Amino acid sequence: MEHKGLQVLQLHKYPQYLKPCCELINEEWPRSETARMMSLQASCDKLPTSLILINEDKLLLGHCKLTAIPSMPNSCFIETVVISKSMRGQKLGTYLMNEVEKYCQNVLKLGMVHLSTKGQENFYTKLGYEFCAPVSIYGSSISSNIVVEVNNLSKKEINSTTLASNIPIPPPLPSSKPINVNNTIKTSKTYMFKYLS
Ligand SMILES: CC(C)(COP(=O)(O)OP(=O)(O)OC[C@H]1O[C@@H](n2cnc3c(N)ncnc32)[C@H](O)[C@@H]1OP(=O)(O)O)[C@@H](O)C(=O)NCCC(=O)NCCS
Repeated sequence: MEHKGLQVLQLHKYPQYLKPCCELINEEWPRSETARMMSLQASCDKLPTSLILINEDKLLLGHCKLTAIPSMPNSCFIETVVISKSMRGQKLGTYLMNEVEKYCQNVLKLGMVHLSTKGQENFYTKLGYEFCAPVSIYGSSISSNIVVEVNNLSKKEINSTTLASNIPIPPPLPSSKPINVNNTIKTSKTYMFKYLS
């Protein structure tokens, strides 16, 4: 499929897309407009950075946000990946992810990227992503020996070498999902990563 005239831009350089971007994301994951706008307005040259996909008619077609992973300075977390509902299935998500990876490698000088998903594993696997241990974007590790429940179907034990183990595990948050059983963490999200080359 031809992708003539597509561009991936830093949202903070094109504030005219703030509102359309807020609407695009909120259509998929409803949240207060104020909170969403605050999150988008935090975009900057370092991290976090919101990248947007624009077509030749200057229409906003997609978005993704890059967030720092404090325990992994050589990586970042790709989140809020979304393509406009009416434009899905045309390889635009693939185009956006490829450009985002180039940005991470060439502009941010990173060696890898991480993400989490629930339901889009196939999309990311096709892009070369592999399963990995959960990572935290909130400052520290969660465990060095983690049991991950993938989509409630299977459990696999992952010995994480990428997570530091000398920081205490925070107390469990109120949640309907089981957390913190015998020094393990269960999550229904799948964590994935990819080396950039
Ligand atoms: C996930 C998303 C970004 C994919 O964008 P897209 O432009 O539709 O994807 P593409 O057309 O580039 O698809 C590439 C491949 O992934 C597959 N794919 C895409 N979405 C998929 C899904 N939900 N489940 C299974 N496979 C999927 C496509 O079939 C295609 O396979 P092919 O190469 O064999 O034809 C888009 O569907 C979306 O915005 N979804 C809602 C938000 C969301 O869930 N984001 C992910 C958060 S982790």
